[in-house]
Amino acid sequence: MPPLYQYAGLPNIKQPGLGVDECAARLQALAYAEERLMHLQAAHLVTVPEWDVKGLLGRLQYEAGQHADQLKNRLLELRISKKKALKASDNPLKVVFDEAMFAANTTDLLASLVLVFKPALLQAYRAYLAATNHLADYPTVRILKMIITEEEETLPLLEAAYHDVAHTPEKEAAATAWANVLRDMLAAAGGIDGTRPVDGARLKPVRAVRPYVIPRQMSRDDSFRQIWDFVHVENERAAERFAQMLATRLSEITAAEGLAFVLAEVEDQPWPFYVDISRHLWDEVRHTFFGEAATEQIFGDRAAMPIRNFDLTYVFQMSPLQQYAALGLGIEAAMMKYPPGKREEYEFCRDVAQHPLMTTFQDFDWADEVLHVNIARRQLKDWFHGSQQELLALAHQGVELRAQVRKMQPPSPLPDVSHTLPEIENGPQRYPDGH
Ligand SMILES: [Fe+2]
Ligand SMILES: [Fe+2]
Repeated sequence: MPPLYQYAGLPNIKQPGLGVDECAARLQALAYAEERLMHLQAAHLVTVPEWDVKGLLGRLQYEAGQHADQLKNRLLELRISKKKALKASDNPLKVVFDEAMFAANTTDLLASLVLVFKPALLQAYRAYLAATNHLADYPTVRILKMIITEEEETLPLLEAAYHDVAHTPEKEAAATAWANVLRDMLAAAGGIDGTRPVDGARLKPVRAVRPYVIPRQMSRDDSFRQIWDFVHVENERAAERFAQMLATRLSEITAAEGLAFVLAEVEDQPWPFYVDISRHLWDEVRHTFFGEAATEQIFGDRAAMPIRNFDLTYVFQMSPLQQYAALGLGIEAAMMKYPPGKREEYEFCRDVAQHPLMTTFQDFDWADEVLHVNIARRQLKDWFHGSQQELLALAHQGVELRAQVRKMQPPSPLPDVSHTLPEIENGPQRYPDGH
């Protein structure tokens, strides 16, 4: 008996398996599918009203983007040029994913993921692992094992969400019909890994007769009370300022929705741009969850705090370039100054509120914001064609427009939390109003 660890324990080592060109062709199709799934899930984070589905899409668009990035980088090792590997090239799958963007509602969207795309992906990744020689193609094998783990973890979440929204026979019938259209198109496109013949005659758009544009319309269910803005609280009133910090974190969902427009509507950027924006988007969803989780822990009710929603008004008015410049170079960059800034928010939670969970959250929020400012500086430098001064002027105008929009409606007071947060003593501490 050879030892278990012969050949470093790798299986599938004596089958000739797939050649480099064959591997590259499959991985190129799979990378394309993951890239388009990132876009599909990010764009519909704006359109779906269901709060928990919105958040799930924030995670899934990021993971799809990461999968695409890993596969594209592997292609560079398989004799594929940088231009061909990183740029989404012409692919029969384009028609299928263009069509999928036109999901009419949450049920359609989830049906496309649960009944068509995600099972097809999982099957294709498993088929690849079964077909390839694990010794010859180990770098791909390792990437696919990690991708499969994430897909297996998240498919049941999507299935649970789908069953929650497709709760009437009519809704389920409509969603199944939409899934059938997409499944037929996917088959006509040669499958998600491009291993079957393409049937061009059956590859015709149904809804996608024009490019998809995300509607400029706020889409939120009633999980949380929506208000225009919070009444400004004096720095000395520590309990109220802490409550305001919870509500401000919760309201970062608008930053995530704004970034979905940047991801969806900025075309022809190098691939790393989309990887960065996708990460930034998921971070803002995570920050939203910071507020939700801390509120739920403190009050036993995640909806104890309202969401401030005036930010969406100017997101709809600005170009993605200006909106991103205002966020990254205006609002987030301002949070780097200490005091006050992100560091003081963290210190406030640690020293004044003395709330361990929010202290952890604000610690990582601070780290994330440092990353976001660096991403914005890096990406905007390449994306913006004018001078640095012109770019800062554009960001400044965006911040000004935000300030004007903010004044359009009166702010509302936050719920009185002084009895719930009695341990926070009022003091002279200052901390700022985060984005
Ligand atoms: Fe944030
Ligand atoms: Fe941020």
